[in-house]
Amino acid sequence: MESKNEILNVSNTVKWIGALDYDIVSFDVVMSTDYGTTYNSFFIDARKKAIIETTKEKFKEQYLGKIKSLTDPVDIEYIIMNHTEPDHSGNLKHLLELAPKATVVGSGSAIRYLQDMIGAEFKFRQVKNGDELDLGNMTLKFIGAPNLHWPDTMYTYLIEEKILFSCDSFGSHYCNEKMFDDLVGSFDDAFNYYFDVILRPYSKFMLKAIDKIRLLDINIICPGHGPILRSNWQKYVDISEAKAKKYLETVEAEDTRVLIAYVSAYGYTREMALNVEEGVKSAGKIKTNMIDLETASLGELEEQLIRCSSLLVGSPTINQNTLLPVYRLFSAINPIRDKGKTAATFGSYGWSGEAVEIIEANLKVLKLKLFDSHALFKFYPHKAKSDELKKFGKSFGQFALESVKE
Ligand code: FEO
Repeated sequence: MESKNEILNVSNTVKWIGALDYDIVSFDVVMSTDYGTTYNSFFIDARKKAIIETTKEKFKEQYLGKIKSLTDPVDIEYIIMNHTEPDHSGNLKHLLELAPKATVVGSGSAIRYLQDMIGAEFKFRQVKNGDELDLGNMTLKFIGAPNLHWPDTMYTYLIEEKILFSCDSFGSHYCNEKMFDDLVGSFDDAFNYYFDVILRPYSKFMLKAIDKIRLLDINIICPGHGPILRSNWQKYVDISEAKAKKYLETVEAEDTRVLIAYVSAYGYTREMALNVEEGVKSAGKIKTNMIDLETASLGELEEQLIRCSSLLVGSPTINQNTLLPVYRLFSAINPIRDKGKTAATFGSYGWSGEAVEIIEANLKVLKLKLFDSHALFKFYPHKAKSDELKKFGKSFGQFALESVKE
């Protein structure tokens, strides 16, 4: 869809110069973007001119055109990078060609990442929590907000106009050319989904960041994506805080919950899963959840992975490999969040049984703690095999309980 190439006034000094992307179908290849998205960048027309972030490279001509219509780019003194993922930094190298004297400002990690991304020398200033930058008649203050959702992230606060630039925090993939929260209609669905996929694994850091801005006098929050929050920013900070707390409570409350995730071509591996589950439950105070990977949505998988402390993965071996739904499970495992969770594998096979070892190798790389055995059976698990499966499940359950105590 053709997007309107508009510049919007956020305040007397701040202008939105971002890009509207109605056509994006998925973001980071991990989330669908049914409402499109925006890449928000801002021009601060202070005595020393500054830009906050730079939009995705795809929008280069439009983006640089907006800047040129506002100022001679050589007059830009600072480019603030709150975050360096290429949807924020994609046009930095092009902007620096037009503004070679500009100083790039970011956290230590941000500057290091940018040096690798840009591949050319540029002036930079590393800042940390509490540092200020004088723009002549205005002042920017930097607020450390790491791991939301990269180590480089920080917020920038324009003191005189009480505007907080928050990069991905409080953002949403929601594209509407009106751009302001009071003009675009409800975007709560998009906001909630964005939080769940991008920020929820970093809830601990979200709460720390919210604590840091709690006493700030804020008029407007300008996130990196989606509507600018000028009429009801508190609502979106409150939603983020409530969701982060709920997530942490869920994770901490349930010590031993085993997720049994399986895929089954003819029901044999499913039968194994049922026997293993019985064994796991007999090990002690353990809750179990069973999920069929062939039909589970990515959202369900994510939900279950968040809640479990242990993971059992079952797959038949077909053509000396495991199956596509199991690879989808791998993509849903987040080593930052799931590191150290106990795991084991099982599966039925006909001629050879490579699937379990392939799964184990992947789980190990994803930083799960592997049980020292797996359950592998030819075809259907009849009586003797089912007893063995229950024994395997019980041993794994004991291992899971022990690991929680450590
Ligand atoms: Fe909007 Fe983490 O990029």
